[in-house]
Amino acid sequence: MKLAILGASGATGRLLVQKALDAGHTVRALVRDPKKLAAGHPALELVVGDATRGDDVARLVAGCDVTISALGPTPEQVDVASRAAEHVIAAGVRRYVVISGAGLDVPGDHKDVTGKIVSFFVRTLSPAIFRDKVREHALLAASDVGWTLVRPPRLTNDPATGAFKTDLTNCPGNSVSRADLAAFLLQVAGDDGLIGKAPFISG
Ligand SMILES: NC(=O)c1ccc[n+]([C@@H]2O[C@H](COP(=O)([O-])OP(=O)(O)OC[C@H]3O[C@@H](n4cnc5c(N)ncnc54)[C@H](OP(=O)(O)O)[C@@H]3O)[C@@H](O)[C@H]2O)c1
Repeated sequence: MKLAILGASGATGRLLVQKALDAGHTVRALVRDPKKLAAGHPALELVVGDATRGDDVARLVAGCDVTISALGPTPEQVDVASRAAEHVIAAGVRRYVVISGAGLDVPGDHKDVTGKIVSFFVRTLSPAIFRDKVREHALLAASDVGWTLVRPPRLTNDPATGAFKTDLTNCPGNSVSRADLAAFLLQVAGDDGLIGKAPFISG
């Protein structure tokens, strides 16, 4: 596949780019600072730009089969997820796989007590980030994009296990490694059966 990756210089994004290249995919990666992502792989193209700019997102996704977002909020741009989603929708992307968070509620959820407590704390302690993830979901749900929101709990930098668990209605654990999350994002990118769904993942 030809993949467009947003947030490619981040902690999960870098792992995602490497796994995608190792799996034989072609990658076009959006970076604000090209020094943050090692170039040189023949199947990796860097696009320097900003996910909150429509022309940069359009340049990134043109001709790609699937777009994956590992974008994360910064203090200056807590709304980066929903702003990027607006541009992805405007660019007419067919398939969009995005990291959201286990705190997000979607119709059909059956969260256990722990899951409900996580949602409460995310909503209370990080209201701006929570609102951004809610708006991202609302924008995508109302669009023609074939989206999948992946909902992890706390992220760790542990090595990949390959033994992660996924569930569509309740988060099966309290943490997951970024390496396992990256592997699942790639799996989802090749699985149109998860279009319009928001799977949880945990270690
Ligand atoms: N941390 C957790 O425990 C946790 C739990 C659940 C969900 N999540 C979600 O997991 C996702 C990934 O987390 P992470 O820790 O891997 O992320 P991260 O290391 O903070 O990386 C975020 C990436 O987004 C990029 N970015 C931010 N604003 C941008 C913009 N305007 N244009 C282009 N790039 C931009 C950053 O670029 P620069 O390198 O240029 O800054 C960086 O590459 C996030 O969406 C987060 O909300 C995290």
